[in-house]
Amino acid sequence: MSMHVDVFESRGAAERAVAAEIAALVRRRPDAVLGLATGNTPTGVYAELVRLHREDGLDLSRVRTFNLDEYCGIAPRDPRTFRAWMEQVFFGPAGIALANTHFPDGVEHGRALHLEELPRHVEAFERAIQAVGGIDLQLLGIGRNGHVGFNEPGSTRASRTRRVELHAWTREDAAKSFGGLEHVPTHAITMGVATILEARALRVLAFGAAKRALVARTLASEPDPAWPASYLRAHADARLVVDRDASV
Ligand code: PGA
Repeated sequence: MSMHVDVFESRGAAERAVAAEIAALVRRRPDAVLGLATGNTPTGVYAELVRLHREDGLDLSRVRTFNLDEYCGIAPRDPRTFRAWMEQVFFGPAGIALANTHFPDGVEHGRALHLEELPRHVEAFERAIQAVGGIDLQLLGIGRNGHVGFNEPGSTRASRTRRVELHAWTREDAAKSFGGLEHVPTHAITMGVATILEARALRVLAFGAAKRALVARTLASEPDPAWPASYLRAHADARLVVDRDASV
């Protein structure tokens, strides 16, 4: 149960390689289903895909996307939502049709759902993934506490899309973008571990020296709820994509 590790000389080279793989997938299958992540880590992959769209004619207009997670308790159109960020950095500049984008955001027809409506919503998100034949390629990062998506420590291998309480470190890491810890949402909705593992390919990105210990623990750990990234090793087509600084 070992995970392939692709080590690149630089972060830029790693990002170009992952973007090239996604571009090849989309050229082969224009309505490919992409699983997407937010945060600092995947930004360069999105930028490179936007460049390929603009300079190389890569057509992403039919791609279907499913994002890993979204905060709860902020307004649907708030600029701090992951959806707003994705629209700004990727969907808009890459020409991705917003109707083809999906978030487990607890929002339907512009309205934030009540707590008791969420089970129906997260089941619909899972069914939407099934309805398009599953995710072809899922991008992932690794959080400081080993989380993938917002599957915080304690998440089980069998977990599905659900509302979760955010870990203290996750909220700390988001404090800057929310203008203070007290403004960071306490809960989010995340794709589950089992949902993620059903994607046909997983590309787990980790760049910079600060990620080296996380990469080491991910590669060394048996499947362990204390380190959710460890579950990814059981996947048949999972690759850890790192730059020199993050390699172990
Ligand atoms: P980062 O977050 O990309 O901002 O480092 C990683 C994660 O929490 O998955």
